[in-house]
Amino acid sequence: RHHVLSLADFSPREYDTVLQTAASFREVLSRRTKKVPALQGQVVANLFFEPSTRTRSSFELAAKRLSSDTLNFAPGTSSLTKGETILDTAKTYWAMGANIMVIRHRQSGVPGAIAQAMDHLQAGVKVLNAGDGLHEHPSQALLDLFTLCSLIDFEAPRLHCLAGKKIAIVGDILHSRVARSNIWSLSAAGADVHLAAPPTLLPSLFAEMGQVTLHWELAPALQGADFIMALRLQKERMTQNLLPSLREYHQQFGITRDRLQLCHPDVKILHPGPVNRGVELSSDLMDDPRLSLINQQVTSGVAIRMALLYLLAFPTGSPVL
Ligand code: CP
Repeated sequence: RHHVLSLADFSPREYDTVLQTAASFREVLSRRTKKVPALQGQVVANLFFEPSTRTRSSFELAAKRLSSDTLNFAPGTSSLTKGETILDTAKTYWAMGANIMVIRHRQSGVPGAIAQAMDHLQAGVKVLNAGDGLHEHPSQALLDLFTLCSLIDFEAPRLHCLAGKKIAIVGDILHSRVARSNIWSLSAAGADVHLAAPPTLLPSLFAEMGQVTLHWELAPALQGADFIMALRLQKERMTQNLLPSLREYHQQFGITRDRLQLCHPDVKILHPGPVNRGVELSSDLMDDPRLSLINQQVTSGVAIRMALLYLLAFPTGSPVL
């Protein structure tokens, strides 16, 4: 694989390779030095045209733990403000020697367009999609998968660990690239995936995306669920007055302690972050370490992103590990 743009075409073998490689890097991260020389001499460019806290910082940390040089791009202080195009920006980083570009953009397809441009140039540059518009956020879904599979088998997290587990994805699914990537990965894992949202945030076309069940009310999605993945209401992508309002959403779909009675007794809660506290999740649940996997998700992000950078740099494996 030359680029990671989407999980739609990921094979079970690729998922397992990423999970196993991330488990090896988790072991590296538990050591005092936390570093391997795998990407020494390589340049990872973080081209984030849209805001990010977790993804940008964990890709940067992952690149540094692999001993690569990292470049961070800030659109507001870049030559984009003078009219330079996105493709010319990417070509500029290539000319400086970037080997891997990690790209986030508000418009779906931008990482794919940059990957195409790099392939045309025969630049040998690998592109990682760090979230593009409404399309996909593959590294987020992979870190979610790693978090879930590690709960079931910490030493040897595998895709099949989730077979038959009920997972309710609840929230602003319409605008969520995280939901789209997770639908691919969780379906591939054989999980029983349920999507729940008000009709304005869950169009019926999602039924075509794989083995998923749609609900326009919360209770049937939560019934017996092993895991709940709450998703942020993305106000920045909503152009009209919200329907439902944030208050109405919380009343109908907010995950609260009372509503957890419907779920499996050992239910756990995920959220990719950032969270609108008290909207998609009640604040006390978010902070309850017996229920919330949110911090584990963030921690998993470093090992997963090390695995992705490493596997793109060494697609056929390397003895460096
Ligand atoms: N989950 C996620 O993509 O968070 P950031 O926007 O902070 O990177």
